[in-house]
Amino acid sequence: MALRCRQHRVFGMREWSPHTEEKISILADYLGEFTVAARTAVNRIYMDLFAGETVNILKTTGEQFPGSAEIARAVEPPFTSLILFEKDHQRATDLRTLARDHGDSRVTVVEGDCNANMLAALRAVPTQAPVFAFVDPDGMEVQFRTIELLAEHKRNSGKPKIEMWVLLPTSGLVRMLGGNRSEAERQGHPDKVARLYGAWGPWQDVWEARLAGTLSPGDARLAYLLLYMDRLAGLEYTYLLARPIKNSRGELYVMVFATDHPAGQSIMQWAQEKDRVVRRTATPPLFQYPEARPAYEDIHTEWREQFPVSLSEWVEYQW
Ligand SMILES: C[S@@+](CC[C@H](N)C(=O)[O-])C[C@H]1O[C@@H](n2cnc3c(N)ncnc32)[C@H](O)[C@@H]1O
Repeated sequence: MALRCRQHRVFGMREWSPHTEEKISILADYLGEFTVAARTAVNRIYMDLFAGETVNILKTTGEQFPGSAEIARAVEPPFTSLILFEKDHQRATDLRTLARDHGDSRVTVVEGDCNANMLAALRAVPTQAPVFAFVDPDGMEVQFRTIELLAEHKRNSGKPKIEMWVLLPTSGLVRMLGGNRSEAERQGHPDKVARLYGAWGPWQDVWEARLAGTLSPGDARLAYLLLYMDRLAGLEYTYLLARPIKNSRGELYVMVFATDHPAGQSIMQWAQEKDRVVRRTATPPLFQYPEARPAYEDIHTEWREQFPVSLSEWVEYQW
């Protein structure tokens, strides 16, 4: 799928670093194959929990590239229904207007907090339908209770559970918890992290080791990821994949994919592992070579035994 848009700057819109375009291009490749694989289903549903803007601006060049919702709207064979959550009033209005201007009755925009609106929105999702949920917050905004609602929705339908691709802000976790306990507590950060995991416990042990200086930021980042994958594994997803997204200084966040479907897992693996051109500078070199993909290899087995910090049991968050 072509990702380029017209080339002119749009004032007032957020500008994104090249890693966002990289993430969106993986999404585009995956969705293109998802709807092919699901083409015989009566309903094929796309959910975007943090739908954002209709177009995105690339910071390095000022070029436009489509937002996730536009990528999903354009996919062929088409999704039969798209549910877009967006908290910001102007962005929600723009998403609605764009769908209306295209006469696209498949789109429902749910304005407000996706965590608060998920239960009601899922009532419109048939449990027999293949469903893909893109979970792309700026930071810690997605609560694990929302992830659980998605995972539970189709559990007893005899079909694979809702598939999801979730942004986990690994560097943000290390930075936000930081090295000053009272400051982090004053800002309510531990509670936000507990909501992200839906639990207390092991992530606090990782944080304690960081506070004591016995764990490097890199090891803490990896542990936060593996713990999140443990939480998803606890929802009984059969396949989990992790794709780090980096800038020139290192890892920013990790996209975590959860599915029950073997085809979903192999298609996402293909999309994640594909080398991609990442336009990191305003003046592109004469020849643009794809960057080798950043990879985690076989990270999710027996890691606790090798981890230098002993980890306690999960204690579920009381919502
Ligand atoms: C990273 S941007 C999404 C980018 C978009 N998915 C894309 O790829 O083009 C995050 C968006 O989520 C919205 N947002 C933040 N908190 C939210 C919440 N609790 N529920 C729904 N939307 C939220 C923000 O207004 C912002 O537009």
